[in-house]
Amino acid sequence: MTTALITGATAGIGAAFARRLAADGHDLVLVARDTKRLREQATELHDRHGIEAEVLTADLATDEGIEAVAARLSDLKNPVDLLVNNAGFGNKGRYLDVPMADELRMLKVHCEAVLRLTSAAAESMRTRGRGGIVNVSSVAAFVPRGTYGASKAWVVQFTQGAARDLAGSGVRLMVLCPGFVRTEFHARAGMGTDNIPNWMWLDADKLVATALTDLARGKTLSIPDPRYKALMGVVKVAPRSLLGGISSRTGRKYGPQ
Ligand SMILES: NC(=O)c1ccc[n+]([C@@H]2O[C@H](COP(=O)([O-])OP(=O)(O)OC[C@H]3O[C@@H](n4cnc5c(N)ncnc54)[C@H](OP(=O)(O)O)[C@@H]3O)[C@@H](O)[C@H]2O)c1
Repeated sequence: MTTALITGATAGIGAAFARRLAADGHDLVLVARDTKRLREQATELHDRHGIEAEVLTADLATDEGIEAVAARLSDLKNPVDLLVNNAGFGNKGRYLDVPMADELRMLKVHCEAVLRLTSAAAESMRTRGRGGIVNVSSVAAFVPRGTYGASKAWVVQFTQGAARDLAGSGVRLMVLCPGFVRTEFHARAGMGTDNIPNWMWLDADKLVATALTDLARGKTLSIPDPRYKALMGVVKVAPRSLLGGISSRTGRKYGPQ
């Protein structure tokens, strides 16, 4: 039996990882801030799939939250075999509309927590000579898209660099770059979604299935779905000024502040 720890496990992409990994027979450590929701999810996954699901309430925008999860990842007596750094959010508004405290909170969750949790997990996985880490970024990492895209670009560069440094250690790292996925993300960020064309929406369960296949194949970058793979091919050669215009319009319609 192996154990997977998922941050942001209660909703959206994280919940899809939890469902899929539980169905595959993995024990789980579920991390988010809402304890009641975590407990309900743990009970449901235990009852449905017969796996053990631990609840770890932690706010990854705080040092205490990050340290609690890092301590769990460093516990060699109860090892974690797969870490999914998935917790994340979007701020409501464009650059300079967003209070600096919220910008810094995003960097803490998207970058500092990902660095510290990846490092805690990778250390203990390297000691055991095996393990996997999936860091959830976004296709926004590849286009000019405010501070959100910038934080997700850090996740791509960090993960691919770390994967290279740990090659041959038995620890696999992969960065997952989804396009638009129907989750709680946009409503939480106060973003309207009616200007996002239907074809751009991905299904969280299919996304997770492709991500896990890519991890098993040893990929260090996963862009699930052929539509987004093609789009990212175009992005590589398109002028940045054109990309910036399109990207900053699509899916960034904010409701009243
Ligand atoms: N949806 C998309 O279109 C999309 C596209 C590309 C990438 N992504 C990325 O995918 C990841 C998951 O997003 P999602 O769409 O699934 O969002 P979601 O449905 O809003 O779920 C976010 C999850 O993260 C948890 N979370 C948020 N802030 C946290 C914090 N400070 N500490 C601990 N947990 C926290 C939430 O639970 P609590 O509120 O209980 O803490 C929830 O479980 C994010 O990194 C996001 O940037 C999303």
